[in-house]
Amino acid sequence: MRELDGLDVAGKRVLVRVDFNVPLSDSPDGRRVVADDTRIVAALPTIEELRERGARLVLVSHLGRPGGHRDERLSLAPVAARLRELTGAEVRLAPAVVGERVKAMTEELREGELLLLENVRFEPGETSNDPEFARALAELADAYVNDAFGASHRAHASTEGVAHLLPCAAGRLLEREVATLTRILEHPARPLVAVIGGAKVADKIGVIDRLLTLADVLCVGGAMCFPFLAAQGHAVGASLCEQHDVELARRGLAHAATPESARLELPSDLVLGDRMAADAERRVLDGVDVPDGWIGLDIGPASAARYAAEVERAGSVFWNGPMGAFELEAFAQGTRTVAEAVARASGVTVVGGGDSGAALARFGLEHAVDHLSTGGGATLELVEGRALPGVEALDGAGVAR
Ligand code: 3PG
Repeated sequence: MRELDGLDVAGKRVLVRVDFNVPLSDSPDGRRVVADDTRIVAALPTIEELRERGARLVLVSHLGRPGGHRDERLSLAPVAARLRELTGAEVRLAPAVVGERVKAMTEELREGELLLLENVRFEPGETSNDPEFARALAELADAYVNDAFGASHRAHASTEGVAHLLPCAAGRLLEREVATLTRILEHPARPLVAVIGGAKVADKIGVIDRLLTLADVLCVGGAMCFPFLAAQGHAVGASLCEQHDVELARRGLAHAATPESARLELPSDLVLGDRMAADAERRVLDGVDVPDGWIGLDIGPASAARYAAEVERAGSVFWNGPMGAFELEAFAQGTRTVAEAVARASGVTVVGGGDSGAALARFGLEHAVDHLSTGGGATLELVEGRALPGVEALDGAGVAR
């Protein structure tokens, strides 16, 4: 991966792809505001370094999935406002993504100044990685830096196509994400304990397979444990459990039965609810055969303690996905126990983004881990061992020319 140190940026217009795809909310006075600025904060080291090195910054990001046309609710204006607060700099928001007016604005930029382009997915050429659109983006700059780790699994014009058209390098966040996630998988301090949760086996079967190959212990929680339990012949009651997921879980169990596989740990007790609601009737089940009409909504206390013990004696920990419906206090304990164990662990701790990041934040533990990834899908694809187009392109490899 080409490094930022080697890129000549002084006095140059540098197009920086960031992942400012952040949650927004409506403030009481009707304004759209950034609800969680984690991804913006994570991009600051690269932004500040480039400003200090005399670059003229043209920032580009997507926000949501507007489908190739302008949608005012997905304007980057609230992000520009937050970036102004965080950097203390004047951040201008371009009226569009590309075009003569925007190009003129890039030319007016002085060293250290920032221009944020409008949501790049307002343009249909972005997600189709249209070469014409990539060229229009490239005309806005003299060099390109990709710091959008969270979007690096997308072969889009701003993450992939444009990298082939300008001198380019990885930003500090992208570099750190790839190095940290690669290291924990390929050269971990042992034992490597992985804890995987979330709703569906189908979303993570690639990750589960790779972790069964690379890790020493794999603990499974969240709704995705039910297809595994069903495949073992247990009753799952009204728990989330699709037939397709049961087939995949059966494949996972077969992999786990091979001698070179990691030890697969499944729950031995559960917390059930009669429905998924804050005021649901709740009971702890000592066992995993869920009676009819009940939903498994969290791993039980004994399972949580067992997973926590694995985490605490690990040399390295990789955690992705909650252990239950942690948004509801009645079903948050399994996720909290694991989160606290990860926070306490003396080994290297790496947490995949998305829901596990939200869970850490809910328990006030987001700063207690060694690395909290800003990626959701990108993190999973990297862990799965898939090449990330946005990373490959920085080395001149990939789909667009
Ligand atoms: C994410 O939030 O995972 C990234 O920003 C990618 O967004 P996307 O799934 O809409 O491409």
